[in-house]
Amino acid sequence: MFDGKTIVLGVSGGIAAYKAAQLASDLGKTGADVHVIMTRNATEFVSPMTFETLVNNRVAVDTFDRGFEYNVEHVALAKKADVFLIAPATANVIAKMAAGIADDMLTTTVLAARCPKIVAPAMNTGMYDNPVTQRNLQTLRAFGVAVVEPESGYLACGDTGRGRLAEEGALLEAVRDALTPKDLAGLSVLVTAGPTREAIDPVRYITNHSTGKMGYEVAAAAKRRGASVTLVSGPTSLKPPYGVTFVPVHTAQEMFDEVTSRASAQQMVVKCAAVADYRPATTAEDKIKKQDGEMQIALTRTRDILGWLGEHRVPGQVLCGFSMETRDMVENSAAKLEKKRVDMIVANNLKEAGAGFGTETNIVTILTKAGAEPLPIMGKDQVADEVLTRLLALRTETGP
Ligand code: C5P
Repeated sequence: MFDGKTIVLGVSGGIAAYKAAQLASDLGKTGADVHVIMTRNATEFVSPMTFETLVNNRVAVDTFDRGFEYNVEHVALAKKADVFLIAPATANVIAKMAAGIADDMLTTTVLAARCPKIVAPAMNTGMYDNPVTQRNLQTLRAFGVAVVEPESGYLACGDTGRGRLAEEGALLEAVRDALTPKDLAGLSVLVTAGPTREAIDPVRYITNHSTGKMGYEVAAAAKRRGASVTLVSGPTSLKPPYGVTFVPVHTAQEMFDEVTSRASAQQMVVKCAAVADYRPATTAEDKIKKQDGEMQIALTRTRDILGWLGEHRVPGQVLCGFSMETRDMVENSAAKLEKKRVDMIVANNLKEAGAGFGTETNIVTILTKAGAEPLPIMGKDQVADEVLTRLLALRTETGP
């Protein structure tokens, strides 16, 4: 994922330094060239040898270490870095960065670096909540440094509160974000995801197998590429991607209301949700008791959200639907493109291995007025990028 990129990982002296070892290892596995710089205090928690073994590069600690290959190591690393991540960042290192103090290898290199910088604070709650630390973080944000907020929980010092290093997933996403060109900057993108739930009674509902994964990947990719993203999602077990406006819904009608009320402000709408086509005509107030013999539930159609968007399109807006078929995929999807008056349908065949519900991968065919383009099997995150790239091209073709 980060093939050919140079990542400098700054590790400062908090107990969370031990978590940075796993992070360094995982960053290395992405294909990146990872260089670790530790503060002297950090070496009290974890040995530089740990990092050296994990990333295959010498760990830098002291600016005046005579053993270095480069005599101005801090400048060399600062120039090489594509992204600089300081995790964990102590209150002390944050304060030094905010003040421009450069009195050791880490702070000297970070001051010299021009690449995107990310800090992931980890410290005692009192230190984190202290207005001085908060002011320093604000200063860094104002200078364009990304801050990955710590989590709340039980801390090593015995306190409970904010200050625990963010989860590794959030740190990796911040690095990916920093390395992604912002070609969707200035655009508002609305994505729908997941299934809907249509209540039969207070206990039962009608739904489908959608996990929401494809839609969440589209939302995350659009955010990473600089868009302002709204994710309207039916119930899923996924964590909303960092930095998106999250609108949880249950029913097709709720999704209709939340999408249509926001539609006119969107330059792109990507409808990945598996919206129920039918809902029970009535929802029983009480649990329906079982009875002998067959039972029937009257169903009524839900409203087609994408169809509504096609009819009420604002100038310059591009619309994309997803379609899941078990037969005649291309023909059926081409018909949807026409009927719903949208720009793109991303079709996947549920019966193909590696496509469809709950998988990490997908095999899609992209249909536009220009024709059908089958894509090879790829990760859902890659499918998301392919879809967004084509939607951006369509938008550029038709003009804003
Ligand atoms: O016609 P079909 O349901 O197969 O079309 C799928 C596309 O239409 C998806 O993008 C889905 O999100 C959207 N859809 C919708 N409202 C519905 C049903 C489907 O927006 N009620």
